[in-house]
Amino acid sequence: MNDRGYYDGFGGAFIPEVLVATFDELVTAFEDARRDPSFWQEYVDLMSTYSCRPTPLTFAENLTRHFGGARIYIKREDLNHTGAHKANNVMGQGLLVRRMGKTRVIAETGAGQHGVATATMAAKFGFDCTIYMGEVDVDRQRPNVFWMERLGAEVIPVKEGTRILKDAINEAFRDWVTNMDNTHYVLGTACGPHPFPAMVSWFQSVIGQEARRQILEREGNLPARVYACVGGGSNALGVFQGFLDDPVELVGVEAGGEGLESGRHASRLCSRDAGIGIAQGYKTYFLQNDDGQMRETHSVAAGLDYVGVSPMLSAFRENGRVRFEAATDREVIDALSLTLRKEGVIPALESAHAFVQAFKEAPSLGTGQCVVVNQSGRGDKDIFTIADAFEDPRWREFIVSKAESYRA
Ligand SMILES: Cc1ncc(COP(=O)(O)O)c(C=O)c1O
Repeated sequence: MNDRGYYDGFGGAFIPEVLVATFDELVTAFEDARRDPSFWQEYVDLMSTYSCRPTPLTFAENLTRHFGGARIYIKREDLNHTGAHKANNVMGQGLLVRRMGKTRVIAETGAGQHGVATATMAAKFGFDCTIYMGEVDVDRQRPNVFWMERLGAEVIPVKEGTRILKDAINEAFRDWVTNMDNTHYVLGTACGPHPFPAMVSWFQSVIGQEARRQILEREGNLPARVYACVGGGSNALGVFQGFLDDPVELVGVEAGGEGLESGRHASRLCSRDAGIGIAQGYKTYFLQNDDGQMRETHSVAAGLDYVGVSPMLSAFRENGRVRFEAATDREVIDALSLTLRKEGVIPALESAHAFVQAFKEAPSLGTGQCVVVNQSGRGDKDIFTIADAFEDPRWREFIVSKAESYRA
């Protein structure tokens, strides 16, 4: 990264004039914190007492036997407080907000995990909290909306545009412009203007640091491959950073939706529907048409349903350090089903994308090799989507009778 936040030409900070001073303040606060070893120690202490760090690395014994190739390990980010890797970023930013003396936080959310994590952080640190969420995602992820509100946050459904994550980000920026003095925008992924990609990926790097140490302790060797799903890119960058200088293949898995050829997907780095552009304050690959209009995205996983992607990952695509693949909705449901039954763990629909690719490749690796799959979150939040995908009639009956009991 250069000092203006560019990664081989991707990134930067394309922000309105009124936000320049706020961003300068944030860059300075972040750089000070990064240079201060006591800040990282404070962060690690907080995460080990309030969340579940270090998260375990689980040997997936039954899946390994089932596929018969490389030994499969799961990095258990689902065991974080609030159920996903999002906690790493928000608690880190919470410490930074306290250091900057601000009193209010705002955030965008897609799957709702980042919203719940931010509302939790705000409750713990005593900040006021407003969460922007596309109306479509509000409907898909109602349980998370319920928890955000119970945690004391105001949730504002965004009715603009396609009413998903990118629209929520736009609204959050609008709020920030009017409330810069007391407010910090807790961006949930490694996207947006500098310093967000650097800052979010720094907090998430704790995943890779732990995973590298844990796999070496367990196996005495590095893994052949590390797999992570890619929405904005924060969990992938988190785990990949632990292995960047190693001879380890890094594989990012995007949302293939109904198939790349269907046009109904959210793959920016391995489909032909994306191009380099500047939007939402940074330069990266966006899913856009030839006129630069953003395309509609689709994924069974709300958290992967985003038009842009971290500039750091765009750079890794160009220089070949990370390989990108896509998993379809159908493959994701199958992988989820297998992981549930073989290992008794419930990956989030987002995380199940990483499992799809690992399951495709593990059998062709040698039995002496191992791979790590980053399980970015837990799937409890997805119960409505998963139950629909499994077409479970008793679940349907339950929902209908519950709805009737409310109507009565
Ligand atoms: C469980 C989970 N995994 C992955 C993602 C994708 O985000 P990122 O690519 O920033 O890790 C999300 C986003 O909401 C999520 O909730």
